[in-house]
Amino acid sequence: TGAPMIAPSILSADFARLADEAAAVAGSDWLHVDVMDNHFVPNLTLGVPVVQSLIKATDIPLDCHLMIDDPDRWAPPYAELGARNVTFHVEAAADPRQTARAIKSAGALAGLALKPDTSLADHLDLLTEFDTLLVMTVEPGFGGQAFIDAMVDKIAAARRAVDSGHLRLLVEVDGGVNAETIERAAAAGADCFVAGSAVYGADDPADAVRRLRESARR
Ligand code: DX5
Ligand code: ZN
Repeated sequence: TGAPMIAPSILSADFARLADEAAAVAGSDWLHVDVMDNHFVPNLTLGVPVVQSLIKATDIPLDCHLMIDDPDRWAPPYAELGARNVTFHVEAAADPRQTARAIKSAGALAGLALKPDTSLADHLDLLTEFDTLLVMTVEPGFGGQAFIDAMVDKIAAARRAVDSGHLRLLVEVDGGVNAETIERAAAAGADCFVAGSAVYGADDPADAVRRLRESARR
């Protein structure tokens, strides 16, 4: 694992000023974009047209987290638009292998997301198909929830699976990440950290990103 990656989540940004909100976190590794469809999760955010505009409005690579039904059908277009990483939930996918391949052949990294109650052990055989593994540390749907501490063991298990399998897979953590919880997630072996309210709720979002990066290094 290299330097910790920080991915601010625009879910906690002002949706009327997305270009400015992206500029406010320049220097972030990825910009995390939460796509929600009101079916897989009880919230509705944005989709392809907004991602298409945002990608032109920022140099930060987009990390699209699809909390949607039928990702087999709806995920590949985000890769075709030029998102860096396209993550979908295993709970929603009919054929996660084929969907990962479609994302990768469109030029993006492919990510597998697990809700807090979804077992990692049941899906280990899928990991060779993916570039990133998103361990949810809150129930997906909303920003500003508390980090579920019991997920630290799942992060550690993901780290062990990656290392023992010699996989080229980034372990990403999403939900309740702040300057305090990021230390536990980093100690358990995560590579990439999504943070919404801890970044956009701060007076100085760029400084919040720097602080998170420092906390993850310790
Ligand atoms: C929740 C989203 C997260 C959210 C995290 O469903 O997947 O990316 O933005 O927000 P915080 O960091 O506030 O928990
Ligand atoms: Zn997310």
